Formats: sequence, structure tokens, C-alpha cells
Amino acid sequence: MQKQTIYKYTLTVYLWFSIKGSLIFFCLTPLSSYCILKFYLEHFFKIYTYLSPENTQEGRRLLDSITWPETPPLPKPFSLNLTTNGAKSSFSIVLRDGGWRVGDELMVRIQLRDYNGNPKKSGGDYLTSRLHNRMLGAGVVGQVQDHLNGTFTAVFPLLWNGTVLLVQTSESITVLKRVTEEQPDRIWFSSDFRFGSVTETSTCNVCLDADKAPLCNFTDLHTGEQWFCYKPKTLDCNTRVSHVVVFRGLKINKEERLLFQRYKDYFLVCFLYITVNDYLFNLIIACLKGKQVHMFGDSTTRQFYEFITKKLPSKFDKHSTPQCGPFLAVDHTNDIMMTFRCHGPPLRNYKINLSQLQYVANELDRLNGGPNTVVVVGVWAHFGSFPMEVYYQRLMAIRRAVGRLLNRAPGTKVIIRTANMKDMNVDSSLYNSDWYSLQRDKVLRAVFKHPGVLLLEAWEMVQAHYLPHNLHPPPGIIKLMVDMILSNTCPENGG
Ligand SMILES: *[C@@H]1O[C@H](CO)[C@@H](O)[C@H](O)[C@H]1NC(C)=O
Ligand SMILES: *[C@@H]1O[C@H](CO)[C@@H](O)[C@H](O)[C@H]1NC(C)=O
Ligand SMILES: *[C@@H]1O[C@H](CO)[C@@H](O)[C@H](O)[C@H]1NC(C)=O
Ligand SMILES: *[C@@H]1O[C@H](CO)[C@@H](O)[C@H](O)[C@H]1NC(C)=O
Ligand SMILES: *[C@@H]1O[C@H](CO)[C@@H](O)[C@H](O)[C@H]1NC(C)=O
Repeated sequence: MQKQTIYKYTLTVYLWFSIKGSLIFFCLTPLSSYCILKFYLEHFFKIYTYLSPENTQEGRRLLDSITWPETPPLPKPFSLNLTTNGAKSSFSIVLRDGGWRVGDELMVRIQLRDYNGNPKKSGGDYLTSRLHNRMLGAGVVGQVQDHLNGTFTAVFPLLWNGTVLLVQTSESITVLKRVTEEQPDRIWFSSDFRFGSVTETSTCNVCLDADKAPLCNFTDLHTGEQWFCYKPKTLDCNTRVSHVVVFRGLKINKEERLLFQRYKDYFLVCFLYITVNDYLFNLIIACLKGKQVHMFGDSTTRQFYEFITKKLPSKFDKHSTPQCGPFLAVDHTNDIMMTFRCHGPPLRNYKINLSQLQYVANELDRLNGGPNTVVVVGVWAHFGSFPMEVYYQRLMAIRRAVGRLLNRAPGTKVIIRTANMKDMNVDSSLYNSDWYSLQRDKVLRAVFKHPGVLLLEAWEMVQAHYLPHNLHPPPGIIKLMVDMILSNTCPENGG
């Protein structure tokens, strides 16, 4: 319990650090660096293989299928007044002959308006809808359709109160699209290279400008994941020892920033501890008896590990980093083993030793698997700022490894965590907007559609829940997700 508290604390500091880091960058960016940055960008993705030959066909089809409606250009000259404003927009309930009955679907027409109250004429805004019942503590997600002319319809099953949330205006999505096209490298990484007493530090990323300096090619030979660093001045490429994120910040102007202001809806969520009663923990132990549970991915998957292992008697984590693990927890009496390991680059992490940075697909290839093995994978939160191909290829490498695992060890339970909405301020929007997450979530669902894999419905759980959205959903929601993992792991126990 003591130990858990320390992790949560570190996690919070990390988030603060990342947001703070980008703010600091904004204050310090000298305008003159723009030209350098621009030059760099023109070369940036030259050496990236967008879709490797084995992924080309399915990948193109899939990426085409998630095309977002066209979004309007920003007003020229810029005026915030001409952009979408949720508060000025209006709803009307589509009338229905014979009135309504519980269980019917209620259709609501939404007319988006700008700050002046004039109807919007184009679509592409990102709206979500949900219904919730505080008394029952339940919620469901409604369907939203964009008619591309400034009107939307939301369809709610007629159960409880519903709300519609304007997540990103179409104008802000125009900026999000541009930022990813022009600044796909807005998050950078660096590595230390060390030999004897000599240490050199060098810049790394999914892709770098080969004309600028010689490269070290760290493409993973097994998974094909591309990764490069500039060769350090004197040391060899094979002396690389660590990996760390460097927030470079990005260029948007003051007017564009206005599009990301939130006038409400900003919550600072603390990591509150709910006391999970022993009843649930008894269920967890009964369900996991004789099982090995391996979790891989980002911090949103680590939350499951932390939740479940709270009551496991032995943990081996003294020599691991709080973000990345690798962690191991065991319960000898009940023959339970749980592990967690973070995913490989582009993980935005504190400095870690290279040995701790492993691709999920490679880890899966090292598992025995079998009916008593549960694998939980969650890889999404660190990919928002890169072109979609980077994420797609990562998922394909994992899918192939899952296929090999299920083939050699049938009966292995594989659970893939979907993404979730979060709290967004201006800076986190530009790195990791819910709109970016939504696109990636669609790709993840398409890639893992095949049978034998359970998609853990994190997206809808978070969207439907009354608690404020958070990158790291609060314990109440984690408990729901753990329930789902358990009911899939031990269907015979009824969860
Ligand atoms: C924006 O609208 C407000 C209120 O409708 C008005 O006071 C303000 O002058 C407008 N600004 C511009 C630049 O049109
Ligand atoms: C619906 O909203 C009203 C007004 O906010 C509230 O009094 C009521 O309890 C809500 N009903 C449910 C089922 O949440
Ligand atoms: C927008 O499109 C919808 C669906 O095609 C249509 O019913 C509606 O009348 C249109 N509204 C306007 C203002 O054009
Ligand atoms: C990096 O290495 C991989 C694997 O050896 C190779 O396929 C790829 O072409 C290399 N990329 C560059 C830019 O050298
Ligand atoms: C990383 O490696 C260094 C040097 O070998 C070592 O001192 C340090 O403890 C390692 N850190 C972790 C978290 O394993």
C-alpha cells in the first residue's frame, strides 16, 4: 500500500512535468528557430517507410476508411467569432407522432452556431453524447451523426438525461490536422551513448534528417519498427544506453491557440484512493488462482497492474522505474504471477536504461502462453503526435505476435485495451487531443477485429461515466475495467 502511493505520486508529477515542459518551451522559443525547424521538417520523414510492403494494402484501405470530414479553413482575417461555439449552439428534439415511451430512441437535432450566434454551414466538429443516471451510477454512449452542413443528430435510447459535449470545434481540428502534417516531430527523444568514462547525448526519433548528420539505425530487426538517433560525435552507435523524451514544443500562433481555450470543463483530477472492499479482492484472487497475467503498454495499462497487485503479497519492483517497470508480483499460496512492462519507443518517459525499452511484439514472442495465461495490451497514448502510419505499423507488429501466440498456445486470453478520452488543455490538445485518440482508436479496433481477442471497451466506459475525463481514469472506472478483464478471464465464476 505504501509503495502504491509512491507510484501514484510519481505519475502525477510526470503529467505536471510534461505540461509544464511544453509551457516552458513556449516561453523560451526564439522566433529565429522557426527557419531551422522548417528546414528540418522538410527532411524529417524522408527516410520513414510509411507502410511496409506487408502492411500496404490493408493499411491504405484502413487509413482511408477513417477519413474525417473536411474541416473549414480558419477565417481570414482571423476572428474567433466566426468559429464554433458550443454555448451558442442549439438543440431541438425531433418530434414523433404518438409521443415517447421508455426504450424508444430519442433523436435530437443539433444546430452548431458561431460566437455571433449564426448557424455554421460546414461540419467536421467532434461531438460526443452520453446519457447518465446519477442514482443508478450508470451511463451509456449515444450516437452522433455529422450532416456536414452545421447540423448534427444525436440518437439517445430514451433512458435518462443526456448531454452532448463539443470536444473539438471543426476549426481546431483544422489546426490539429495541420500540426500533424507539418510538425509530426513535435515530441523528440534523446539517448545517452556511453563508453568507459565518455558519455555523449544525441537526438532520436521515429525518423531523422539523414542529410543533417550520420544516423544510427535502431530499426528493430524482428518487428521492423523504425527508430533512429543521430550518431554521437565520437562514440559508436552500439554504445547507446538510455532513452528519454524531450518536449520540443510546437508552433501555432496566438489566434490558433484561442481555438483550444476551454471556458469550462477543466478539472484537475487528483488520484483519489477509493477503498476497494475485500470482497472484490477475494474475487480477484479466486479468479486468478493458478494464472499468469502479463500486462504490456503505457501507463493506462499499468493502472490495472497497480489496481490488481495491491493485495498480492510479494512484489519485485525495487530495481525498476516507476513508469516502465518491469514489475513482477506473485502470490505463492494461490500460484498467481503478474507482470507489467512498458512499450517501446516512442514512449514519452523519464530516462530509462535501454534494456527496459522493449517492443510489446517481442515480449509476446517470449511468452509461453496457454489457457492459464492472460495477456493485456494497451498501446495508444504516446502515438497521438505522429503520423497514423507509425501507430498502424506498431499495432500490426503486435497483431502478428498475438497471432503467433494464439497459434502456438491456443486458449491464451488476449485482451486489448482501447483508448479513452481525457482532460485537455491547450498544450495537451496539440500533443494528444481526444480527436487524435479517436482516430487511433478506430484504427486499433479495425486491426484487432478478428476473433480470439477481447477489446476492452475503455473508450465507452470513460465517455459514459459521470466522472470527469482523465488520461488516467480514476479508480472507480479502473475497477469497472478490471471487472471486465476478470469476467473474461473467469467467465465460469460469473466474473
Ligand atoms: C465578436 O462578437 C462580440 C459579441 O458578439 C463583439 O462584441 C465583438 O466586437 C466581435 N469581435 C469581432 C472581431 O468581430
Ligand atoms: C435529470 O436531470 C435533472 C435536472 O438536472 C435531475 O434533477 C434528475 O435527477 C436527473 N435524472 C437522472 C435520472 O439522472
Ligand atoms: C442539413 O442536412 C440535413 C441532412 O441532409 C438536412 O435534413 C437539413 O435540412 C440540412 N440543413 C440545412 C440548414 O441545410
Ligand atoms: C534501417 O535498418 C533497416 C533494417 O536493417 C533497413 O531495412 C532500413 O532500410 C534502414 N533504414 C535506413 C534509413 O538506413
Ligand atoms: C541503469 O543503469 C545504470 C548503470 O548501469 C544503473 O546504475 C542504474 O541503476 C540503472 N537503472 C535502472 C532503473 O535499472
